[in-house]
Amino acid sequence: MADGLPDGLRIERLAAEHAEAVLAFEVENRAYFAASVKDRGDDYFTEFPARHAALLSEQEVGTIQFHLVLDGDQVIGRVNLVDLADGSAEFGYRIAEKAAGRGVATAAVGKVLELAAAQYGLTSLRAGTSARNKASQAVLLRAGFVQTGEVVAGDEPQVFYTRQLTA
Ligand SMILES: CC(C)(COP(=O)(O)OP(=O)(O)OC[C@H]1O[C@@H](n2cnc3c(N)ncnc32)[C@H](O)[C@@H]1OP(=O)(O)O)[C@@H](O)C(=O)NCCC(=O)NCCS
Repeated sequence: MADGLPDGLRIERLAAEHAEAVLAFEVENRAYFAASVKDRGDDYFTEFPARHAALLSEQEVGTIQFHLVLDGDQVIGRVNLVDLADGSAEFGYRIAEKAAGRGVATAAVGKVLELAAAQYGLTSLRAGTSARNKASQAVLLRAGFVQTGEVVAGDEPQVFYTRQLTA
C-alpha cells in the first residue's frame, strides 16, 4: 500500500488535464451510480467541458476541493469537498463499479480526511446518504463519521453524518 491506498493507486486534486478521464469515468459508471445516488442528468454530459472549467474556478476560489483516485491514467474514484465555509464542508464520493468492494473508498476517504484538516484547514465535515446505501454507511462509519440525524419521510429516506477533524 502506498499512501494508504491499494498498490498502484494515487490521489490527485482535480486539474484541467483530468477532464477527459473524469468524463469517461462518469459515462462508464452512469447507470451504476444512478442506482445509489441521483443521476446527474443529460446536461451534465453534454456540457461537461464548461462544467469542468467552472469547477476548477470554484476550486481556485476555495469553495470546493475535488480529488480523483487514479489507476494509471484512469479515474476510478472521486472524493469531493463541497461548500467549504467556516471550517466545514459537505463530503461526497463515488468509486467505479469495476473497483468496488476492495477498500478503495475506505482508503481514499481516509486520505482526503487528512487533506481536509491539514491542507484545507477544515474542522468538521458533513455527509448524507440514502438509508438503503449500506456500503456508503459502512464507509462513513469506518472513517469515524457519526450519525446526526435522518429523514424518514418521502420516497428516499436519508441518513446524515458528521465528522470532527483535528489538524
Ligand atoms: C459506496 C461506495 C463509495 C463504496 O465504495 P467501495 O470502494 O466499494 O467501498 P469499500 O470497499 O471501501 O467498503 C465498502 C464497505 O461496504 C460494505 N458493504 C457493501 N455492500 C454492503 C451492503 N449491502 N450492506 C452492508 N455493507 C455493505 C462492504 O462490505 C465494505 O465493508 P467491509 O470492508 O467492512 O466489508 C461505492 O459503492 C459507490 O461509489 N457507490 C455509488 C455511489 C455512492 O453510493 N456514493 C456514496 C453516496 S453517499
